[in-house]
Amino acid sequence: MRIDILTILPRLLDGPFADSILERAQQKNLCEIHLHNIRDHSTDKHKSVDDYQFGGGAGMVMMVQPIADCIDSLKKERTYDEIIFLTPDGERLEQRRCNEFSLLKNIILLCGHYKGVDQRVREHYITKEISIGDYVLSGGEIAAAVLVDSVVRLIPGVINDETSALTDSFQDNLLAPPVYTRPAEYNGWKVPEILTSGNFKLIEDWRMEQAYRKTKERRPDLLNQ
Ligand code: ADE
Repeated sequence: MRIDILTILPRLLDGPFADSILERAQQKNLCEIHLHNIRDHSTDKHKSVDDYQFGGGAGMVMMVQPIADCIDSLKKERTYDEIIFLTPDGERLEQRRCNEFSLLKNIILLCGHYKGVDQRVREHYITKEISIGDYVLSGGEIAAAVLVDSVVRLIPGVINDETSALTDSFQDNLLAPPVYTRPAEYNGWKVPEILTSGNFKLIEDWRMEQAYRKTKERRPDLLNQ
């Protein structure tokens, strides 16, 4: 999978992809992540990327030209399955959508800033608008990092033990059950006996019941989907 990220703050994204699972995914050639500085595509003599809103109002708006030129140059090289704009007024990102995105070959992520992006970019280039939650971030970069992380870990081969992505919370509309590791007793706090019983059928039933109970308590909405 190839991911091209358009941003005015590429340094913000240097960190998240340079470590752990995302770093290994790139080393194993299971995904490529390319950062593009939108400012490099500005034809303006001051390299501007934003301007005042038509009609007045507080806050600057990201201009069409640098974004359009950057996307056009990428589209000349390959076909993109989705061009995604990270924005608080987009569709809320959920595991189902992450699973779908993980099957795609080439995607572009556009990170917004200021008051947003000129509507003509959204109308003529963007194929999906995604929000990572009902709160406003300073820009789309952190949201893009969240999307990339949640998607890339689902690409087969990225996580060694593939079942561990399949048993994540939300994969079957259930939250994950509690987990324990050694020691079996700490400070008098014991691990549930069933987990050390060696009876895999009973362990599986226990996990299922715990997952169901936790979901019912914390996220009953998931059970009605
Ligand atoms: N940009 C600013 N806030 C955002 C959010 N909640 N989700 C996606 N992009 C954003």
